[in-house]
Amino acid sequence: MEATARAHTNIALIKYWGKRDEKLFLPMNSSLSITLDKFYTTTKVVFDPALKADRFFLNGKPAGAAETAKISRFMDKIRDFAGAKWYAVIESENEVPTAAGLASSASGMAALAAAAVKALGLQVDGRTLSKLARQGSGSACRSIYGGFVEWQKGEKADGSDSYAVPLLGRDDWELSILSCLLESKQKKISSREGMKRTVETSPFYAGWLETVEKDLAAAKSAIARRDFALLGRILEANALKMHATTLGADPPFLYWQSATLDVMREVELLRERGIEAYFTIDAGPNVKVLCGRKDEEAVRETLAAIPGVQRVFICHPGPGVSYGPY
Ligand code: ADP
Ligand code: DP6
Ligand code: CO
Repeated sequence: MEATARAHTNIALIKYWGKRDEKLFLPMNSSLSITLDKFYTTTKVVFDPALKADRFFLNGKPAGAAETAKISRFMDKIRDFAGAKWYAVIESENEVPTAAGLASSASGMAALAAAAVKALGLQVDGRTLSKLARQGSGSACRSIYGGFVEWQKGEKADGSDSYAVPLLGRDDWELSILSCLLESKQKKISSREGMKRTVETSPFYAGWLETVEKDLAAAKSAIARRDFALLGRILEANALKMHATTLGADPPFLYWQSATLDVMREVELLRERGIEAYFTIDAGPNVKVLCGRKDEEAVRETLAAIPGVQRVFICHPGPGVSYGPY
């Protein structure tokens, strides 16, 4: 009746951007990510037949009505899957800023899915868990696995073939991911809202769809060959293309701040100095910079010196879902 699970966030190298089915969280395109060691969520789920509703605590505080309703809708999907009826007390701790574009929804929903399923006494494989987590937040389906992960979009209307698969283990390629925290406030436009508006209104979205599967194939072949410079060029271009689609939306929006651009420029300068570093940005102002492990200290110093950069977290590829006690 109770279980604790931990899942780590992930950073997309090829972005998930747009849904073809909002209820089932089916994406328009496949995507690719690295799970991070430094940022994670730990969630405890206790089912209790005496409860009349789910209760959700985030970082020790009871969540508001809207947030609790969102979590409860996701729990309904897990209850449906398990054929269970009980409500639960859910206590979650984010070792990551919430809703700041650092993928708290990915670690949060993956940890919740894993803990809830285990608390109900079910043993499921990674693929099944990935499909469940997907229905809490799309990017969460990738956080089931560590290392490099691909979310295959699938073709079927019921979502049965839309799940993540591991590509490379966390120790198979030594890379550093430097996460620059510019602002830890909640973002104005959630990923969910931003991608929906873009799909519905941006004339640039067609260009995204025309090229993203090609980007993915190129990224996968760069990963297979451990070709960092090639992977870097592809992931940087893919991120810029995703953000470009938001400028064409109605009304238009942009996740960047001035410091976002400052970091991007600095990465370009690093490359001019002969240090291989590449950036990517999810749905928020914060920039993540990828570099070789040997360069991480030099890159960290450069990034930390940029005014507007609050903190730089050094991350490496992290593990998949695990179960407590911790
Ligand atoms: P982010 O970039 O942090 O993923 P999103 O807008 O995608 O931003 O998602 C933020 C939302 O994810 C939060 O508003 C909340 O609904 C959900 N979330 C964050 N942390 C958790 C958690 N620990 N457990 C469940 N849901 C969470
Ligand atoms: C830009 O998974 O947060 O970070 O499925 O609506 O919960 P929902 O959205 P979410 O979107 C992530 C978008 C992204 C790119 C990515 O992580 O692939
Ligand atoms: Co998210």
